[in-house]
Amino acid sequence: MKIELSDKLKSFKPFLFEELYRKERAERAKGRDIISLAVGDPDIPTDRRIVADAVKEVRLGRNHRYPNTKGNENLRREAAAWHKRRHGLTFHPHDEISVLIGSKEGIAHLPFTVMNEGDYCLIPDPTYPTYRTGVILSGGRIHDVPLLEKNGFLPDLGKIPRKVVDRTRLFFLNYPNNPTGADATLDFYRDLVKWARKHGIVIAQDAAYCEIYFDRPAPSILQVPGARDVAVEFYSSSKTYCMAGWRIGWVVGNSRLVCALNQLKENIDSGPFNAIQNAVAYGLKHHEKIVPPIRARFKERARRFCAALHGTGWHFPDPKGSCFVWARPPAGCTSLEAVYFMLEKAHILTAPGSGFGKYGEGFVRFSLTEPDARLDEAIHRLKALDWSRVG
Ligand SMILES: Cc1ncc(COP(=O)(O)O)c(C=O)c1O
Repeated sequence: MKIELSDKLKSFKPFLFEELYRKERAERAKGRDIISLAVGDPDIPTDRRIVADAVKEVRLGRNHRYPNTKGNENLRREAAAWHKRRHGLTFHPHDEISVLIGSKEGIAHLPFTVMNEGDYCLIPDPTYPTYRTGVILSGGRIHDVPLLEKNGFLPDLGKIPRKVVDRTRLFFLNYPNNPTGADATLDFYRDLVKWARKHGIVIAQDAAYCEIYFDRPAPSILQVPGARDVAVEFYSSSKTYCMAGWRIGWVVGNSRLVCALNQLKENIDSGPFNAIQNAVAYGLKHHEKIVPPIRARFKERARRFCAALHGTGWHFPDPKGSCFVWARPPAGCTSLEAVYFMLEKAHILTAPGSGFGKYGEGFVRFSLTEPDARLDEAIHRLKALDWSRVG
C-alpha cells in the first residue's frame, strides 16, 4: 500500500538545497576538499565553563524528571536579569518569558496562536524559511515583503497593499538579519511599532543574531514604548553561546502571546532537559565574560572576508552583524549558477540567494562559520576564480 500523505505536507516545497547537497556529495566522492560555507552552524565550541556546568547538572537526579513546558525558573530568571542588563527592560519571568526547544520551534508554532484560515502573515523576502511553516499549517496566507538593498534590507511598510494590511495578523522579521547581514535601528522599530499598533498586527522580531553585532549593539524592539502591546521577540542560545546543538531559545514580550504559545506547547512538548536549561542559565549569568570573544571572532572574520572580496568584482554592503555575507557575484549570473560554479571550480559550498526567496535571486550567502584557516583558504580559492567561465 502506498501511504497517501496530507495536502498540508505536500504544500511544503521540496528543499531547494537538496540538489546542491547531492552535487556536494558527488564532489566529495571525487576526493575534493570542500569548504562548506552554506549553513550558519557555528564552528566555535561551546565555552568550556558552560560545558562543565552542564556536566555537573546532568549528574543531578532532580534534573532527570520531566521539565516544565515554559522552562524552569532558573533559566527564566536569568533571562529576565540579562534583558535588564542588556536592554534595561524588566520582564516578569512568570508570564513574559517562555523557554523554547530552540527558537525555531517557537517560531514555527507562533502562527497557531494568532492566525485563522485566510489571515495574512507578512514575511520578509529574502527570509529565514521557518517563518513560513506555521503559517502554511494554520491555513494562513503569506504576503512576501521585499527586503531591498536600496532600503538597507529593511521593509518598506508603505508599499504593503492596504487590503493585505487589513487582513494581516502577524509580521515576522529578524535583525541583525539572516541572510543579508543588515541591522535595524531603534528608529525603525519605533515606526514599525506605531504602524503595527495602528493596524492591530502582531510583530514577531527574531533576535537570533542579536549578540553578533559589529559596530553598534543591536537594539531590542521591546525598548520602544508600547511595543509590549503588540510584539514578542525570539532569542536563541545557538549563535550567542555557540550552542546550536543544545536546542535552547526563549520568547519574551507580550504576556498574552507568551502565555498563548506556552498553552499551545503544553499540548505538544514538555520542554527541554533541565540540565541544559541550567547550562544556558549559566551562560546568561556569565554572558559578559563569554560572549565578547565570540562576537570579536565573527567581526574579525567578516572584516577579513569582506576586505579580501572587495575589489574582486563581488558587490555587497559589509554586514552589520550576523555570521553572513550576502553578495552578488562578479558575473551577471543566477544564484544557482554562481553556487555550482564555485562548488565545481573552487570546491566551496555556498547558499544560493534564490533559496531564501525571489528577492534573493542574484545573491549568494557566505556563512562564516568555519575555522579561520579554512576561511583564509576559501578566500584564496575565491580570488583565483575566473568568472568569465561561469554558466
Ligand atoms: C534567523 C534565524 N532565526 C532562528 C534560527 C533558529 O535558531 P535556533 O537554533 O534557536 O532554533 C536561525 C537558525 O539558523 C536563524 O537563522
